[in-house]
Amino acid sequence: MTDIKHPNKKFKKTERVPPKGYDSSNDFFEDVFMDKDMIWMGQNTNHLHDNTISDAMADCVKDKDYCKYPPPEGFSELKQLILEDLEFDNCDVLLTAGATESLYLCMQALIEPGDNVILSDPGYFIIGDFANRFTDDVRYVPIYNEECGYKLTPKLLKENMDDNTKMVILIDPLNPLGSSYSEEELKEFAQIAIENDLYLMHDVTYKDFARQHFLVENYAPGQTLTIYSFSKIFGMAGLRIGSVVSSKAIIDVIKNAVVNDLGVNIIAQYGAIAGLKSKNQWENNIREISFTNQKLIKEMVDTIGGVFLPVYPSDANMMAVDVSQTGINPKELSNYLFKNGIFAREGEYTSELFGDRYLRISYSIPTDQIKIFCEEFPKAIEALRCD
Ligand SMILES: Cc1ncc(COP(=O)(O)O)c(C=O)c1O
Repeated sequence: MTDIKHPNKKFKKTERVPPKGYDSSNDFFEDVFMDKDMIWMGQNTNHLHDNTISDAMADCVKDKDYCKYPPPEGFSELKQLILEDLEFDNCDVLLTAGATESLYLCMQALIEPGDNVILSDPGYFIIGDFANRFTDDVRYVPIYNEECGYKLTPKLLKENMDDNTKMVILIDPLNPLGSSYSEEELKEFAQIAIENDLYLMHDVTYKDFARQHFLVENYAPGQTLTIYSFSKIFGMAGLRIGSVVSSKAIIDVIKNAVVNDLGVNIIAQYGAIAGLKSKNQWENNIREISFTNQKLIKEMVDTIGGVFLPVYPSDANMMAVDVSQTGINPKELSNYLFKNGIFAREGEYTSELFGDRYLRISYSIPTDQIKIFCEEFPKAIEALRCD
């Protein structure tokens, strides 16, 4: 038999063991997806929308507009609406299949062997995995502590960067903790970027859940890549649409890396246009429900010994619940909740170093379901605790 080199070996990727009882993660996700009664707290998605966006997409389907290819770089109306949402004047937008594709294209276009990229642990590992396809030097800075406010700070950046640092990843608010940046902190990052000629990748996927939010593009124009998603506040995760927004010069460079040359899903673009045009009608309601839900979770967590929320309030639609003092393995906790109809995420999905300490839960779901979670979670802790 010929010895075929395993194709996977070409790329470094954070390897994860499939959930118990499953051959692959895909089998697991398919099963969870098909379970219509599952309480969906494991993916930071948003289940609180009315029919405004879905109606616009249904019209596109009924008219069979999807028979045609969309304009290859996307509808200019949509790009303009994204710029207005960010209040950027001098930028360009590249539409992609989710923010994920933007993250990849940025790495492919801008990172070379010998460069290093700095990001945080905990964090959203796909970004580091993408960077790793183009350089061996991806630096995860541990940030799971109060001293740094559970986020990558300008001080930590200075301690970890060197002459080869090419890009810094600021996920703001941060998946999984919900920590976010003040305007002052972003100005400091911008200063460091300008002085050292670095790119700042500002992933603002969760920006609309934050109490206040600022954009570093305003302080480091020409060096910032703003990553924008329709999966969270717009509730369109399955539609796979997002973008990268940056100076025209940088977007022109990133365009060289484009694979999806025939454009982004037209139904998703119709939905995104409707979502942006109607945002001021539904946004406050979704934010209010999310704030109420996280408050209910906080009140419940405060009654359980040895369990705490590292970051509260969270500025995202998710939070980490630290269970390390109870001796419970978060994986067992998520398995237990899963058997009781609640899908949550053990920490290892978002942290190599601290994943054994917390469970990540998202809460942009109906409050009735959060109330069920608040009944089930203390029971799960009681059943599993070994402190
Ligand atoms: C920080 C961050 N960026 C990007 C994404 C992916 O966004 P999209 O669904 O638009 O690809 C996620 C998804 O959870 C995320 O947490």
